[in-house]
Amino acid sequence: KANKKLQILEINKIAANYFFWELGEQSGEIALTYLKKRGLSDEVIRRFGLGFAPKDGRKLYRYLKEKGYSDGLLMESGLFSADERNGAYCKFWNRVMFPIMDANSRVIGFGGRVMGEGEPKYLNSPETLLFDKSRNLYGLNYARKSKAGYLIVCEGYMDVIALQKAGFTGAVASLGTAFTSGQASLLRRYVDQVYLTYDSDDAGTRAALRALPIIKEAGISGKIIRMDPYKDPDELINKEGAEGFQKRIDEAENGFMYSLKVLMREYDMDSPEGKTKYMNAVAERLTTFEEEIERNNYIEAVAKAYHVEYEDLKQLVKKAALRLG
Ligand code: GTP
Ligand code: MN
Ligand code: MN
Ligand code: MN
Ligand code: MN
Repeated sequence: KANKKLQILEINKIAANYFFWELGEQSGEIALTYLKKRGLSDEVIRRFGLGFAPKDGRKLYRYLKEKGYSDGLLMESGLFSADERNGAYCKFWNRVMFPIMDANSRVIGFGGRVMGEGEPKYLNSPETLLFDKSRNLYGLNYARKSKAGYLIVCEGYMDVIALQKAGFTGAVASLGTAFTSGQASLLRRYVDQVYLTYDSDDAGTRAALRALPIIKEAGISGKIIRMDPYKDPDELINKEGAEGFQKRIDEAENGFMYSLKVLMREYDMDSPEGKTKYMNAVAERLTTFEEEIERNNYIEAVAKAYHVEYEDLKQLVKKAALRLG
């Protein structure tokens, strides 16, 4: 079994080198153009080992067979599918390839993106002997060496690459899956401060709110960085550069303050009635802090953030507490 793992590692490494090589071929030009259009230099492409899986999925299969790997092992690598008509072929074809590395820079799986529109947008390796999605973070092999003192958790491959390229060396991605406690303990090996910067859509907002308690549980302090009006960190950095993202880090909010912003979506903040209703809902949430000092600290923070008088908000919280009994 240990030997099998080593052989799958070999297969992955050969495949990653092969995809990278295909990127330099004539047929890979479409992929190279795609990556360049997304702002990636040759240096960045090399650093992350990006590649191209050509349309002919038989090519990689034949290449690995020539090297003597058995069909059984090739199937267990997660790289191949087989059917009656075509036999075995690489399940990634006509895609831009992202090798997924573990903390020690060993290739344990792949993600492949369609160029342009198409479903699925990303195809990821299935779980294999090597690849356990819930215990890995994309980009950690580089991020673990970051001197920043914190790590940044985002959603996607392109976000990690854009962030690290812009100098935020501690960026990792949970790759679209829900953040797990296994990933939290992985983070805890390196830092005690994490910034979550998920996509600004509803799915991303919910995912960030769900990840926070998991991070807390692992003994890490977590803050949330919002991306709107942009979709994700990749887009923000392309539009506003590193300074823009640094500003967001400086303004990052803890889970409570963030959840108040999310709550705001339920109210009509353009009308005085809506605003009043919202502030009452905020006051109700503030009553959940049982320690007086902590509650007052939060009342102060909220008062400041929403431009209301501290004493007024305190009265509102008192009334809310009475109302809630
Ligand atoms: P770009 O459009 O290339 O910028 O990708 P993105 O990372 O912004 O995509 P998105 O926010 O939709 O997804 C975030 C991450 O979730 C991706 O990097 C993938 O790891 C994963 N993901 C996205 N779409 C799919 C999909 O269709 N299937 C699977 N299995 N994973 C996906
Ligand atoms: Mn998606
Ligand atoms: Mn998303
Ligand atoms: Mn995204
Ligand atoms: Mn994106």
